[in-house]
Amino acid sequence: MKRLSYLSPKTEVRESKIHGRGLFATADIAKDEIVAVKGGHIVDRKTLREKIRPQLGPVEIQIDDNLFIAPVTDEECELSMLYSNHSCDPNLGVRGEIIFVAMRDIRAGEELTHDWAMTDDDDYFEECKCSAPNCRKILTGKDWQRPELQKRFAGYFSVYLARKIAARCHSERSEEPHNRSSDHAERLV
Ligand SMILES: C[S@@+](CC[C@H](N)C(=O)[O-])C[C@H]1O[C@@H](n2cnc3c(N)ncnc32)[C@H](O)[C@@H]1O
Ligand SMILES: [Zn+2]
Repeated sequence: MKRLSYLSPKTEVRESKIHGRGLFATADIAKDEIVAVKGGHIVDRKTLREKIRPQLGPVEIQIDDNLFIAPVTDEECELSMLYSNHSCDPNLGVRGEIIFVAMRDIRAGEELTHDWAMTDDDDYFEECKCSAPNCRKILTGKDWQRPELQKRFAGYFSVYLARKIAARCHSERSEEPHNRSSDHAERLV
């Protein structure tokens, strides 16, 4: 069977200090270079929770509120996995919904990680073992809502999350009181 996902020839999968196996750079990678593209089947949340997760574990990426890309058989698992662990100080970001790119220049030997806040909108809480100095220790499926992460990862969120972030910013702005000069002008009339 052929691979379902793409992994750059500048990467390899090996044991990680963060968790299990991870994805590593075997050569220098330039900012915005494509590192991986997730492939598999498009499945909904119910299928993921009831069928895929119990059989294959955490093998998916989220691409919309109710849509995920995942392998569906044991055989497909290895062919679809990207092995990118979560880090609170990641070097990968998302382009579109399935492409992972370098957020900065990456040196050979570095582990390739992304922040789940860039892809997930879910209801989980999970302890983080990334060991980054800025580790937030507890990860949640709502971390995309954190303003400091929205700022830090701007341009590297999955498109469906970037749209949600833009909608929240827009509604916050429209809830702000009128600006002072227009209030002043109204009082003068
Ligand atoms: C898609 S797998 C990543 C590959 C995984 N290391 C392996 O060997 O299969 C995602 C899973 O890895 C683990 N993981 C990844 N990053 C982690 C982190 N920073 N802290 C704790 N667990 C992590 C979690 O169990 C998560 O559900
Ligand atoms: Zn962390």
